[in-house]
Amino acid sequence: MKKTILTGIKPTGQIHLGNYIGAIKPALELAVEEDYSPIYFVADYHGLTKTIDSEDFRSFSYGIAAAWLALGLNPEKTIFYRQSDVPEIFELNWILSCLASKGLMNRAHAYKAIADNNRKAQKDKDYGVNMGLYNYPILMAADILMFRTGIVPVGKDQIQHVEIARDIAESFNRKYGETFVLPDYNIQEDTAVLPGLDGRKMSKSYHNTIPIFSEQAKLRKLINKIKTDSLPPEVPKDPDKSTIFMLYKEFALPAEVESMRQQFLTGVGWGEAKGQLFHVMNRFLEQPRERYKELMENPETIDKVLKEGADKAREMSVPFLKEIKRKIGFYS
Ligand code: TRP
Repeated sequence: MKKTILTGIKPTGQIHLGNYIGAIKPALELAVEEDYSPIYFVADYHGLTKTIDSEDFRSFSYGIAAAWLALGLNPEKTIFYRQSDVPEIFELNWILSCLASKGLMNRAHAYKAIADNNRKAQKDKDYGVNMGLYNYPILMAADILMFRTGIVPVGKDQIQHVEIARDIAESFNRKYGETFVLPDYNIQEDTAVLPGLDGRKMSKSYHNTIPIFSEQAKLRKLINKIKTDSLPPEVPKDPDKSTIFMLYKEFALPAEVESMRQQFLTGVGWGEAKGQLFHVMNRFLEQPRERYKELMENPETIDKVLKEGADKAREMSVPFLKEIKRKIGFYS
């Protein structure tokens, strides 16, 4: 039987290169493999845990859907939906929350980090924490368990969430009999941490991202902003320590990568290297950028694709939720 592979992205900002290289690209590669049934979704209710302006929320949600489609997701072969269009996930969320201990949530990294910072700032530990944020891992467990997911491709920061889903699934299975598949995670080792403009991990929270569908001129500008050292052109440079080379590798052909590596080792000017990076990135992004624009101008096309995906998802979630509720004893 094919293994279900599932992942979601939450709409809290514009899709950037870190999302693409860390999540979308590997997920699209796995989606075409015969052994997997892919399920990808817009985690809009997870995005809501950060209170965002309605206009932003709408444009980020559509932006994520359009990005997946523009970059090559085939909705005929992948179940692709908006989380909020599959209400069974939220019923399961409640059921799972009654099986998850509060202590488990206290130990979740995202919450713990906030609580620790609050303590350091001598504020109440729960300052600024809404219940959605606190319960975040349970909703994520519902996303994963609802579709009998075998593998969740994730970044390192999400490993604990998959482990929590596993823990909760085990508790349920122990209490009510074998029901949920225990999920595993899969990390893309070499691309797990993509550096941003300032050299730290590329992340919305560091404001150091390169939005993937930036217009050409903007893309060039952002690439020029990537932090480099002040070595003169003729000095040899270590390609494997360079953000520019790391990004270049993701978009260039193998022969181009080799040639760039040689240029680094014999000395290359940063301006020159950045120019070549822009060239390969822009070459790859030109078409997706157009498709993205077109989709964003026609949100009803996106709605239609997502609605069809939600219908397919519900063909699984409706009967499975019934089975789950029967096991618990809601009806005989
Ligand atoms: N928490 C994930 C993130 O921030 C998004 C997400 C929500 C997710 N539900 C999921 C990822 C289920 C994988 C599986 O990136």
